[in-house]
Parts: sequence; structure tokens; C-alpha cells
Amino acid sequence: MNNLKIPHSPNEAEKEETLSLIRESLTHTMICEGTHFDGKIPHVFVTFGASGDLACKKIYPTLWWLYRDNLLPKPTLFFGYARSDITIAQLREKCIKYMKVKPSEEKKYEEFWKLNHYVRGSYDKGVDFENLDKEIKKLTCDLTANRVFYLALPPNVFEIVTSNIKNHTMAEKGWNRVIIEKPFGRDADSSKQLSDHLSKLFREDQIYRIDHYLGKEMVQNLMTIRFANKIFSPTWNRDNIASVLITFKEPFGTQGRGGYFNEFGIIRDVMQNHLLQILSLVAMERPVSCHPDDIRDEKVRVLKSIQPVELNDTVLGQYIGDPNGEGDAKLGYLDDPTVPKNSTTPTYALAVLKINNERWDGVPFILRCGKALNERKAEVRIQYNDVAGDIFEGNSKRNELVIRVQPGEAIYVKMMTKSPGITFDMEETELDLSYNHRYKDAYLPDAYERLILDVFCGSLMHFVRSDELSEAWRIFTPLLHKIEKELPKPINYVYGSRGPIEANKKCAENNFKYYGSYKWHGNNKL
Ligand code: NDP
Ligand code: BG6
Repeated sequence: MNNLKIPHSPNEAEKEETLSLIRESLTHTMICEGTHFDGKIPHVFVTFGASGDLACKKIYPTLWWLYRDNLLPKPTLFFGYARSDITIAQLREKCIKYMKVKPSEEKKYEEFWKLNHYVRGSYDKGVDFENLDKEIKKLTCDLTANRVFYLALPPNVFEIVTSNIKNHTMAEKGWNRVIIEKPFGRDADSSKQLSDHLSKLFREDQIYRIDHYLGKEMVQNLMTIRFANKIFSPTWNRDNIASVLITFKEPFGTQGRGGYFNEFGIIRDVMQNHLLQILSLVAMERPVSCHPDDIRDEKVRVLKSIQPVELNDTVLGQYIGDPNGEGDAKLGYLDDPTVPKNSTTPTYALAVLKINNERWDGVPFILRCGKALNERKAEVRIQYNDVAGDIFEGNSKRNELVIRVQPGEAIYVKMMTKSPGITFDMEETELDLSYNHRYKDAYLPDAYERLILDVFCGSLMHFVRSDELSEAWRIFTPLLHKIEKELPKPINYVYGSRGPIEANKKCAENNFKYYGSYKWHGNNKL
């Protein structure tokens, strides 16, 4: 410990407090070759855009939960950086309603905030980033310290901020990792420009592109379901599967995010990233190993087999208010004051993707997503073919394997059974793995908790690689450009409905059969 240099600083008392927390954690510190700690290297997590919505709603709460559960390396110091002239106390105030602090956790919560610091600065001035670097060095005694940089910022400053990080704020001693939030560009060209820019600054293994759906329990489970169960693999192909339906629904509208949303639309907001990521995990071949690059190689390979989506293969919708609805439901998308009155931006989209490979040729992958619908739901529905050589007079219904991502994680197989008793009738039933029954006491962490922890651990498995991203844009860019050029009028659907009825027709045309006869008898209907 004698080797720790305690810096002089105007805020001596506060700094001394932090240093004592570092010292406490570095009980077994050895310094070898000048600066390398044996074991306990300090970590620094910098949130750019610390005063903003994403930081306060998601990032600070996530950091707190990870700290609370002793999952972060010790010691970790947290730096907020933004233009606003605010103090840690004010930042804490902004975050409090999202932190979910229990009375028994108060002491630890205080400790967490003591490890937090705030540096005010612009996004475009190198000198401000130098200042941030100085502050970090002061508080880590200018020793080896690993740094994570999180960009909770609008995309228009990604380039300048990452350049400034590279030029002024990188750890010289210790590793550096940069986390970037979507949107990663708005089409193939702008995304390529951003990727080229980042690749000049950082190695690919230093870049963590977040798609938070990759942090969800059931999305992470797809690999296990598919590749650790003999029962599914022989049927996972065009010989057995009729169609695959991947759905995202939200029961609320753009809620004041209309400005951002109108620029992007639902295809860029949800389909091109969250739903396509799920599709690639459902459709990819078995990777050679669980190494992140082996998995991502397979994801890229399947994406390469998908042709760009055609406008004819889509249904686009925009919600209108429900005159009989309550509160926000009365308001349509165009009633949002931040949305232009003549906007044709879709708030609902269905697109049929075709995978041109030996496994999937002819199997439609139907992606559907929408705002202001009848429920919150994200799921994958794999619908099997009709049984050949029917002997049940058409009474048997197709099997479905449903992987419900949220809410209420579950995997269920819809199947036919003989009705119990003295009868030879048949009925639809299910094999059901509901997590709230089977794993009653399991704690399922939030997607961001898993992903931020992965960054500390250096695991890239659940992050988007640059070639995945460029394939995703290749598939959607022609469609997005066509929509922007031709401005097709989206079909109106009422707030709180299932979306445009034309979407049902499109599903039916693409080998998805809806019977309307299945009844769920469980008590955990959500
Ligand atoms: P359904 O047969 O009711 O629905 C199958 C699919 O058809 C869904 O994708 C549904 O979604 C779509 N659909 C619904 N209405 C229509 C329509 N009019 N035209 C065309 N398509 C339609 O079966 P589910 O698998 O959805 O099960 C019914 C309920 O039982 C669900 O709430 C489910 O969560 C629950 N359940 C829960 C389980 C569990 O918790 N473990 C296990 C089994 C069932 P959409 O409206 O999004 O288009
Ligand atoms: C975000 C979208 O990526 O995902 C939002 O920008 C959407 O529009 C959100 O509401 C949904 O995330 P979740 O985890 O609530 O399903």
C-alpha cells in the first residue's frame, strides 16, 4: 500500500474518502514492474451524457444494482460526464426514482454514491476530456486502472466523443472498452461511416455495441434451447417448420419521444436490431463453439443468406387515437406535438424475410413490431407443418413452439392430445415451462445488468459485431429508402388494438395459421 501516491487536490476530504475505499479493497496489492497490480486493479466506469434520460433511467440504476449485488470488481469508481452544471447530489436526486433502494440497502447505497464523481465538460473540446482524464488519474492514484466508457448520448456526437476519448481519455495503463447504444447509423452508408470511424480509433474487441435484447433471459436461452436439446434439432428446418413469427408489442405510444421516433420509425427502432438479432439466433447453424466469434460468425452467415426486404412483403401502420379510450389512448401518433402533422412514419411494421439456404428455403420469417397495441409482449413462435396423412378428419391443429421473451418468461409447446376420459375426441393442450412456476425464486437480472457486467468481464458474446451490423443494414436499407422516397401512407390502426388487420392476412399468406381455438387454462395468463 505504501506505493499508492495520494494526490493533492482542492477536494482533499472527498478524495481521501475515495482513496480509503480503494485502499480497503487493495488489501493484497502487489506492484510488479512499476505499476501492475496483482489481482485488484481499479476500474473506472465513465457515463457520457450522465445528466440525460438513459443515464438516469437505466445506467445509474444498473450500476447501483451491480454494486449492490457485489458483482463489480472492487474497487470501481463511477464518473458522470455531461455539459450540465450539476452536482452528484443533483444527479442522485434525478436517479432516485429508478434505483429501487430497499430500506435495508441504505448504507450500501450511500457507499455507492461516495464512489461517484461528476465532471462537467463539452463533447467537442479536447481540453475537457483531458480534464476528465486528470480527474480519473487523481482518483486512481495514477496507477493501472481499466476504463469503461459508456456513450449515453445522441448519435450526432458519437464521432466527436469517441475521437476525444481516443485522443485524451484512454487509460495508458490498463484496458479500455467503449460501449455504444443504438442507433448505429440510420442506413447502410451512415452506419459504415460510423464503423469506419470507430475502427480507426479502437480495435473491434474494444467496441461493445449494445442491443439490449441480447441481454434478455430468453434471448440468451435460445442457444441452449437449440443446441443442447436433441429433441428440437432434427425438426429445426424447412421439412418440419411452416413459418416463424417473431413479435414485439408495446401497449403505449411514443410518449413524448415522438421527435426521436419520427426520425427513425419502428423499423429502425425495433425491427432492424432487436427482432433481427432474435431471428439470427433462431435461424443460425450450430456454431463451432460458444466462443463469441464462433457464434457471431454463424449469425453473420445466416444474415448473408437473407435478401433485402421488399415493400410488397411488408405491412406498415400508424396508430390513431381511440375516442373511447382513456388518457393517452385517446391520442394518435399525429397528436404528439413533437410529430409533424403529415408524418407517414410507421409505428407498426410487419416484414416477411426469406432465408435462402438449405435449412430455411421457403420458410417465411415474419417479423412484427408495433407501438400502442393491445398488450406488452415479445415472443418467438415456431409453427410446425400440418401432419401428413391426416386420419383425424382435419381436427388436428399445427404444433407451435413458443418462446416468450416477456412478460412472464416461458417456453411452451402447443400440441394435440386425446381428451381425457371415455372419449376419443382430441384437444389442444401444451407442454409448459413457465419460469414463474419452475424457477419461483430465481432472480432474473435486467438486460442492462447482464450486458454491463459482460463488458467488465470482457465477454463480447452478447454484443453486435460490425459485420453483423452491416448485414442488418443491407437487409433493411433499400426498404427504408423506398419508404422515405415514396412515402407510402401507413394503414391506420386504433390505439390499443392488435394493429392493422392487413397484418393477419399477410401472416396467413405466409403459412402462419391462426385457429382461434386454443385456450390456456393456466393461472399465469399475462
Ligand atoms: P393463440 O392461439 O391464442 O394465439 C396464437 C397466435 O395468433 C398469437 O401470435 C396471436 O398473437 C395470434 N393471433 C391472435 N388473434 C389473432 C387473430 N385474430 N388473427 C390472427 N392471429 C391472431 O395462442 P397463444 O400461444 O397466444 O396462447 C394464448 C394465451 O395463453 C396467451 O396469452 C399465452 O400467453 C397464454 N399461455 C401462457 C403460457 C405460459 O405462461 N406458460 C403457456 C401457454 C399459453 P397476436 O395477438 O400478437 O397477433
Ligand atoms: C428500445 C426502443 O430499443 O427498446 C424503444 O428504442 C422500446 O422504442 C424499447 O420501447 C423496448 O425495450 P423493452 O426492454 O422494454 O422491451
